[in-house]
Amino acid sequence: MLHGASSILMKLSKGLNETIQGISFQLWPPATTLITLLDRHRTSHPTPLSSLFDSCSVPHRRLRLLELGSGTGAVGIAAAALLGASVTITDLPHVLPNLQFNIAANAKILELHGGAVDAAALQWGQTADMEAIGREYDVILGSDLVYHENLYDPLLETLRFLLLGREQKVVFLMSHLKRWKKESAFFKKANKFFDVEVIHTDSPCNGSRIGVTVYQFVRKCNGGGKLKSDFT
Ligand SMILES: C[S@@+](CC[C@H](N)C(=O)[O-])C[C@H]1O[C@@H](n2cnc3c(N)ncnc32)[C@H](O)[C@@H]1O
Repeated sequence: MLHGASSILMKLSKGLNETIQGISFQLWPPATTLITLLDRHRTSHPTPLSSLFDSCSVPHRRLRLLELGSGTGAVGIAAAALLGASVTITDLPHVLPNLQFNIAANAKILELHGGAVDAAALQWGQTADMEAIGREYDVILGSDLVYHENLYDPLLETLRFLLLGREQKVVFLMSHLKRWKKESAFFKKANKFFDVEVIHTDSPCNGSRIGVTVYQFVRKCNGGGKLKSDFT
């Protein structure tokens, strides 16, 4: 059960198979921060998310969100329920059964709030996966995705596909807990293509020196190094 981060009560498995251990089957602190922010956005105004969601909501249709590296799927499922949005949650293929389990476990809450969630495999940087997922999203979500340096380039490639490949400005909202200095390399590379802005920072907790930070990425006005043509 996940409660406390939001006013909705969500159910999450501990992993379909209790012997499965791994990063995809835990809820990470940046996920809790993002869910809390989404919840605040639903219940009060203004919040750090107000201008983003006010600018991209379209009358008479659900917001369309895509979550990258969903892990348990908690952020995407919460976003669907809290915003009445249509959300595609994604991760590596072996994570899909757990995502589907968690979607089914929260079917009632989704129905009650008018949200819809589906799950799909999306391995960052894989052209076939990216093309299958497409770009028709209003906002891209992600929590705790920057941790292994081998993943920086594939993640950036996926973001370039999603954010530089459309006329419309699409925002990537990412919560992140800084753990290692090397992570600055990801942000340095990201800055070449995107304007990256901090929209929220949590106070540090549990003896940590740093709190979770929420970033907003949008393509640079000059196109962030062209790329659009590469992806059309
Ligand atoms: C630290 S976990 C964060 C999970 C979840 N977003 C959260 O905050 O609770 C990182 C997630 O990224 C996923 N991931 C790692 N490498 C990936 C890749 N190459 N393509 C897609 N997802 C990947 C993992 O499976 C995992 O679910």
